[in-house]
Amino acid sequence: MNPINNAIVGFVKILPKSIVKIFAKKYVAGENLEEAIKVVKELNAKGIVTTMDVLGEAIQNREEAIAAKTECLELLDAIEERKLNSNVSIKPTQLGLGINTEFCYELVEEIVKKAAELSNFIRIDMEDSPYTDKTIQLFLKLREKYSNVGIVLQSYLRRTLDDVKMLNPKGGHYRLCKGIYVEPEKIAFKGKQEVRDNFMASLEQMLKDGNYVGIATHDKYLIEASYKMIEDMKISKDKFEFQMLYGVTEHLRDKINADGYKMRVYIPYGEHWYAYSIRRLQENPAMAWHITKSIFSFRK
Ligand code: FDA
Repeated sequence: MNPINNAIVGFVKILPKSIVKIFAKKYVAGENLEEAIKVVKELNAKGIVTTMDVLGEAIQNREEAIAAKTECLELLDAIEERKLNSNVSIKPTQLGLGINTEFCYELVEEIVKKAAELSNFIRIDMEDSPYTDKTIQLFLKLREKYSNVGIVLQSYLRRTLDDVKMLNPKGGHYRLCKGIYVEPEKIAFKGKQEVRDNFMASLEQMLKDGNYVGIATHDKYLIEASYKMIEDMKISKDKFEFQMLYGVTEHLRDKINADGYKMRVYIPYGEHWYAYSIRRLQENPAMAWHITKSIFSFRK
């Protein structure tokens, strides 16, 4: 991020939460489950499916990880009871991956097992690089017993194509995205086009071997290239879907939906909306600039 953007994001960080909340509303579906359900129902009514994510902060101990697991189990029950067309995304570090891998496996297995009983699906989000191997191992261990679990791979990582080749024979069920964390150049592509090229090469490899792929991007270039690849490779519609974040490029989201492709929107919600919103701002400082401008004009 350049120094000006850095300063703007720094400024937003010191704003009162009540002001950041005005911005956060666009990206976070609510502070509680009821608010998120309302958003999901609206999207479902348009033919758009969702994946729901209970926002969490970095956890400090096992009790917090267990509490996060309980929230996921309650979410699965709510999806079933309210007849929502949604699955659930989880973050391994929220469920103890940074504490102990076996402990994390046990919690995630409970979630995946319950989801299987309810014919639902769990997507394991991918976090920053210290957790890449551990997350892949977690996924592979679960995959030995469950088919209703999938993983995320990030095209900014240089290793991703090798990961796809390793995972494909084991039944990869992917979400492919660019990646959101700041990673060192040694392990991650930095050029915009390099990341795109690796995205398309990884997508081709995933589809070639018959895996299901969630194509998670708002980048028009990648969406158009994916349309072409799907057509050229004659991939059937039950082998892929497009995915976007709640509140981002809605016009493009609606167009893909109208084109007859399956569209899934990632719905983050929960009391930890603040940390999530700051992350979105860091990703898109232009938004921080708009907020700053509107605050100053408001005060004039
Ligand atoms: P790019 O960043 O180039 O964005 C393309 C255009 O989309 C921008 O020009 C802008 O117009 C718009 N845009 C993108 N992000 C925006 C924002 N926040 N606010 C406003 N406009 C925005 N990452 C990860 O590391 N692990 C994960 O598990 C996931 N999971 C995930 C799920 C889903 C459903 C999505 C869509 C994304 C993720 N990501 C993720 C995030 C992903 O890695 C990536 O950071 C973002 O999707 C942005 O990359 P794009 O491909 O959209 O391109």
